[in-house]
Amino acid sequence: MLSGLSVPTDDRVLIDYRTHDDAGVYRVGEDTTLVQTIDFFTPIVDDPYQYGQIAAANALSDVYAMGGTPLTALAVAAFPAGEIEMDIIRRIFVGGLDKLREAGVALLGGHTVRDQEIKFGYAVTGTIDPRRIWSNAGARVGDQLLLTKPLGTGVIATAIKFARATAEAADAAVASMLRLNRDAARALALPSVPDAVGGCTDITGFGLLGHGSEMARASGVTLVIDSTAVPTFPGVAALVKGNTTGGGNTNRAHFGADIGFASSINETTQALLFDPQTSGGLLATIQPGAAEAVRDALRLAGVPAWTIGHVAPRDTNTVVIR
Ligand code: CO
Ligand code: CO
Repeated sequence: MLSGLSVPTDDRVLIDYRTHDDAGVYRVGEDTTLVQTIDFFTPIVDDPYQYGQIAAANALSDVYAMGGTPLTALAVAAFPAGEIEMDIIRRIFVGGLDKLREAGVALLGGHTVRDQEIKFGYAVTGTIDPRRIWSNAGARVGDQLLLTKPLGTGVIATAIKFARATAEAADAAVASMLRLNRDAARALALPSVPDAVGGCTDITGFGLLGHGSEMARASGVTLVIDSTAVPTFPGVAALVKGNTTGGGNTNRAHFGADIGFASSINETTQALLFDPQTSGGLLATIQPGAAEAVRDALRLAGVPAWTIGHVAPRDTNTVVIR
């Protein structure tokens, strides 16, 4: 959206929208560097309390994905005039507040407007060590690719909306979306191996292939992903047909030309790799020498993680799936 604007350069801006990173980074002074992001969206689950929690976990995720610590949040909300019970709105806010509290983040305020469709989320501010910012541009040839949550929340949220989701798929996706990426980020920030993480991003609207593609482009590399190693939610494959979102098709139209699929990769797998995620996991590239220590740290923190491929020198594709 901002690409056509000429924004003056400011040397206190360390990272802005131009590199497609998760959040902006701004140096206030010698000792203080801020990381800032905003995210809000329409309901993706039926339960208002869970929707509020997921909106908070999702908004905080961009700060964790860059290696930052979120500190404060401002709520951003839209509700239709008079059509919605006060109690439902209250439960959305309570869900968000409970998730912020779990993350140790203070709610400072917010802004609500009238709109046809419900929307809810947060603008989040945190701090970050300017010497250790995980960006899209940090992936190094030879790094392993690590993913910390299964794919399929877009398909499952659509299936939930039309009452087509199995309880197994819905429960797994909701539990995953509720989970903060905080513990994953902490485990990745192993102090003993300072450069263990190369690039890092969270998987959200662009899906694994969209976010992977942006990381590959920013780092000048190609991501090689083993499709059989990519985790998906139980039962989601059977839901793909009939529940593929508009966002999934948009992702395929936008990023598809840069992706190299082996002929063995079927339509269902491709759809899940393009599926837009809400509160998705971290995709991190890990120096091979630190991979075992990182996996141990994640295990100790109770964070599931899957090694899904590696980083190769740039070829004609941004991402190769085999
Ligand atoms: Co992000
Ligand atoms: Co975001």
